[in-house]
Amino acid sequence: MKLRSQEWFGGNDKMGFVHRSWMRNQGYPDDLFRGRPVIGICNTWSELTPCNGHLREFAEIVKKGVLEAGGFPLEFPVMSLGETIMRPTTMLFRNLASMSVEESIRANPLDGIVLLTGCDKTTPSTVMGACSVDLPTIVVPGGPMLNGKFRGGEIGSGSFNWMIKEKQKKENYTEADLLEAEICAARSAGHCNTMGTASTMASMAESLGLTLPGASAIPAVDARKKVMAQLSGRRIVEMVKEDLKLSKILTREAFENAIIVNAAIGGSTNFIIHLTAIAGRIGVDLKLDDFDSIGSKVPLLLNLMPSGKYLMEDYYYAGGLPVILRELRERLHSDVITVNGKSHHDNIENAICYNEEVIKSIDTPLQDEAGIAVLYGNLCENGAVIKPSAASPHLMKHRGPAVVFSSMDDYHERIDDPDLDIDENSVIVLQGVGPIGYPGMPEVGNVDLPEKLILKGVKDMVRISDGRMSGTAYGTVVLHVSPESAVGGTLALVENGDIIELDVDARRLHLDVSDEILTERRAKWKAPAPHTDRGYVRIYLDHVEQADQGADLDVLKGGSGSVVKGDLH
Ligand code: FES
Repeated sequence: MKLRSQEWFGGNDKMGFVHRSWMRNQGYPDDLFRGRPVIGICNTWSELTPCNGHLREFAEIVKKGVLEAGGFPLEFPVMSLGETIMRPTTMLFRNLASMSVEESIRANPLDGIVLLTGCDKTTPSTVMGACSVDLPTIVVPGGPMLNGKFRGGEIGSGSFNWMIKEKQKKENYTEADLLEAEICAARSAGHCNTMGTASTMASMAESLGLTLPGASAIPAVDARKKVMAQLSGRRIVEMVKEDLKLSKILTREAFENAIIVNAAIGGSTNFIIHLTAIAGRIGVDLKLDDFDSIGSKVPLLLNLMPSGKYLMEDYYYAGGLPVILRELRERLHSDVITVNGKSHHDNIENAICYNEEVIKSIDTPLQDEAGIAVLYGNLCENGAVIKPSAASPHLMKHRGPAVVFSSMDDYHERIDDPDLDIDENSVIVLQGVGPIGYPGMPEVGNVDLPEKLILKGVKDMVRISDGRMSGTAYGTVVLHVSPESAVGGTLALVENGDIIELDVDARRLHLDVSDEILTERRAKWKAPAPHTDRGYVRIYLDHVEQADQGADLDVLKGGSGSVVKGDLH
């Protein structure tokens, strides 16, 4: 087969000279340019993305594997998104990062791609970008941190954050207590050790067939993670020879598998938005309803925070994703091909569960139906989502008066006001946190409860917004309301005291206000001014789609392939 890279490196003319000569200042022997598959190692390493801080070392390990298999590895940086650092939210930049990946791949002499990923958005952004080029591609997930250990107990990254206000108010946690907990929660390299969004995304990559079997749960600092990285480097060279492109792996069946697996592991609601965007890039028709119809009857098998008790390290020792795939084999399309050229069916043949407390069997699940529920009603004409496994059973059917906050600033100003008219039956409604409204659809949907109710012992309340929720979070939280309030969705018209009905079983979210009154309110509603009139954010605001569509930019959907016309001179 003719390698794509040879269009750059194979010529014996002026351009062949130009393409090779400058590269050779890095000390590469001539034979590396002569017919070896060139493997791009797309690195999301950054000191500002702490969850990916170890990926520089991992790139060197992948290179060893590529060289062993006869390839020529070339590492390149792309925009990296650090979840805990970036303002206003990494989601604002997911599509921008995907563009940096897509164009870096297409513009360069690459035959195959290794995606080094970790923190939440670094997986979907790189996979989205790679899909729009469609070369042979393998994902190397950076792996979770070791279990957090704090004062004799376990502490899950992210999930602990949501208890801080309660601990300060009810357990008198001091500044010193929190300072000690900081490093105990993050005591090794790697991403969040709960089944938060990063672990969900790594599991998504494995269930789609984009990683070597078992890769997603291995802790970042486990020696076996290095082995996996090296083997991935070897394997991508073979994938180039087999022309095993992303589009051959990412079939509709592969997406259905990912939805089933996400339900069984209690994965993050962010999975919906990212998988939808990936499907849009590779040309698979995936609708919001598919997440409910395919996933919602799947039992919860994994006992991990935030839906359960344990952490990623325990999950890996229990057998990891191959055990989940084995338990689900009757429900999955087990014959779809994965990056190692084999089907899930073949890959899980020897999967063994070593801890049935952590990974339950399909006959004794933690919960009978765990997948994401998609709600409809006059409050969310294009849909909204809720994660029942993280919600309180007693609130799954609820009717209560709205307490409306028009923005996060408004929420922060008033939520702890002792005079705020709110009790445990109220429904907290948060507007202005959608893709356009914030902008960037931040993870704020699971806002803290008011201090006065926490002190009363209230643990959960219904919260509704057009925002997202961290994968590490929990609660009866309705998210991704579409259309969002900033574009005039009904969410923008809710007023204090309006009655809202949530019925998860009936998949219903209803604002009990007459159509006549809503029409009057709509006539008076004014769209908020755009956040900016320049730069990337302006482009984003002009092109971003709503949550039910995956919040990708409309101009990025689909792909442009790997052929590039034109050259330097
Ligand atoms: Fe990076 Fe959770 S903050 S994975």
